[in-house]
Amino acid sequence: MENRHVTITINHETYSVEKDRSVLYICNDMGIEIPALCHNEALKPYGACRICMVEVKNGPQPDSLTASCTLMPENGMEILTETEKIKKYSGLLFEFLLARAPQSNCINELAAKYGVFKTRFTERKKTMIR
Ligand code: FES
Repeated sequence: MENRHVTITINHETYSVEKDRSVLYICNDMGIEIPALCHNEALKPYGACRICMVEVKNGPQPDSLTASCTLMPENGMEILTETEKIKKYSGLLFEFLLARAPQSNCINELAAKYGVFKTRFTERKKTMIR
């Protein structure tokens, strides 16, 4: 019988988790909050917004940031959800999103939740080719 579980660490704690669920779902189930915009349980994950990043210490590219909604757990995987690298990346991404959609309550609330209340950027207006 196939083992449907793998052992991973999240924020230095070891867990046995289902291997067919993304790291985003696993973390959410454990009460570890990861921001997410483009993921929806009804859709196949495609990792577009890049806001759900986690740091994988021992992945193919060590210490790399990866979208947790498309990341499937593998035995021995070491995941961190709150690092300076993630905070720096997320802060910049929230600033871009605020510049892109300043009227969006969803973006404003999510950015504020992670300590970003304003942006240094302005939205570049698209020009139409006639
Ligand atoms: S939720 Fe959008 S990339 Fe993961």
